[in-house]
Amino acid sequence: MATIDYTQQIPNNVNLADDRVLQRALSAWQPNFLEWWREMGPEGSTLHDVYLRTAVSVDPAGWATFDHVKMPDYRWGIFLNPAQADRTIGFGDHAGEAAWQDVPGEHRANLRRIIVTQGDTEPASIEQQRHLGNTAPSLYDLRNLFQINVEEGRHLWAMVYLLHRYFGRDGREEADALLERRSGDQDNPRILGAFNERTPDWLAFFMFTYFTDRDGKFQLNALTESGFDPLARTTKFMLTEEAHHMFVGESGVSRVIQRTCDVMNQLGTDDARTLRNAGVIDLGTIQRYLNFHYSVTIDLFGADQSSNAATFYSAGLKGRYEEGKRTDDHRLRGDTYRVLEVQDGRLVEKDVPLLNALNEVLRDDFIKDSIAGVERWNKVIAKAGLPMRLTVPHKGFNRQIGALSGVRVSPTGEVVSEAHWQAHQDQWLASDADRAFVASLMGRVSAPGQFAHWIAPPAVGINRQPIDFEYVRFN
Ligand SMILES: [Fe+2]
Ligand SMILES: [Fe+2]
Repeated sequence: MATIDYTQQIPNNVNLADDRVLQRALSAWQPNFLEWWREMGPEGSTLHDVYLRTAVSVDPAGWATFDHVKMPDYRWGIFLNPAQADRTIGFGDHAGEAAWQDVPGEHRANLRRIIVTQGDTEPASIEQQRHLGNTAPSLYDLRNLFQINVEEGRHLWAMVYLLHRYFGRDGREEADALLERRSGDQDNPRILGAFNERTPDWLAFFMFTYFTDRDGKFQLNALTESGFDPLARTTKFMLTEEAHHMFVGESGVSRVIQRTCDVMNQLGTDDARTLRNAGVIDLGTIQRYLNFHYSVTIDLFGADQSSNAATFYSAGLKGRYEEGKRTDDHRLRGDTYRVLEVQDGRLVEKDVPLLNALNEVLRDDFIKDSIAGVERWNKVIAKAGLPMRLTVPHKGFNRQIGALSGVRVSPTGEVVSEAHWQAHQDQWLASDADRAFVASLMGRVSAPGQFAHWIAPPAVGINRQPIDFEYVRFN
């Protein structure tokens, strides 16, 4: 098994030792990153010893090395998947040409924008989650939160590496700005809407990691196709870490559902108030949280019709999800795609040029993937012998971006009046009262093997450790 070399400041496979310019840039940025981590990272956590996996190389033995580590001592490394010899661009106007090892001048501004937009989400989510450690339902969950936090930090490093290495002075400025914006800040917010929302409780955290980290999966997958090879290789490695984030979300929600179903069966009731009095989260509340996180997350894919999306694709900067598995011509000129729009107060489908609809294509791929996990949650309910089911709301529900942002759409897809929306909003989206109730359940459980009343224990521990392992030692 590989061990962590703490004498090495920045573990990497980009030959940092021989690149003086990059060394200088990164060693100037690193103290600012650590200062940002102390100010905006997980609250009150700097002295805890946390059972973390650290990537020390990209090979199977090295990418997941486990040990108890204080988070500020975590080694945020820079790793790219190994280069693929003679890789060619798989789509767009440059399809078939050699992948770029450097930034083509004509695409420089767009590439920088793509990298900055991705990079901005990483520290944003850490900021959103910074208070959650105080109310973790177990040491196991606390460790998972911290694992996600350090890895989102590493994803920031990954994007900052690209900015420093390939974009010169404006890259350095963008790297600095990534540490200056703040999630939810009035004056200097994070770039994308969902990353300025609060993640105030653990149900929100699990929904966020299920849905919003899954947006990350799809964006990163689209970038692994990029003609800019360093971006493709960097995002490919990030995806190995992203899988755990989505696992935390899916299994977290699943455990909440499990606990609720157990109590429903014990008490023989589906009455929300009775269940709340019994200290578990009723399925209606879980559905309303789901509706919120799902709808703000699908906004992240952008406008349904976007000339930028067409440009990014045709220029070879950002592909589709699993571009290589698709059997069309990978240029898409003359192809169409069906999107929704509002006509006379009703949703209708219309065909638009596929190139302009690539945001919608990625959103639809995301939706398919999301529904699969919701079905797995429903299996937990079904196994408990209960008839209720969770669903994802209609694509037009609660949208702030794109053609559907101008109308009110119910979870089942009817266009409704503003008055109707106002009257039903609290049945459709997590209300202040729902959030206050969930908040009332939150409180740190810190004894090994103990779990808060509202959530079932996991089936297995992390890295084959027992469930009552001391995943976090408080200091
Ligand atoms: Fe990330
Ligand atoms: Fe993530």
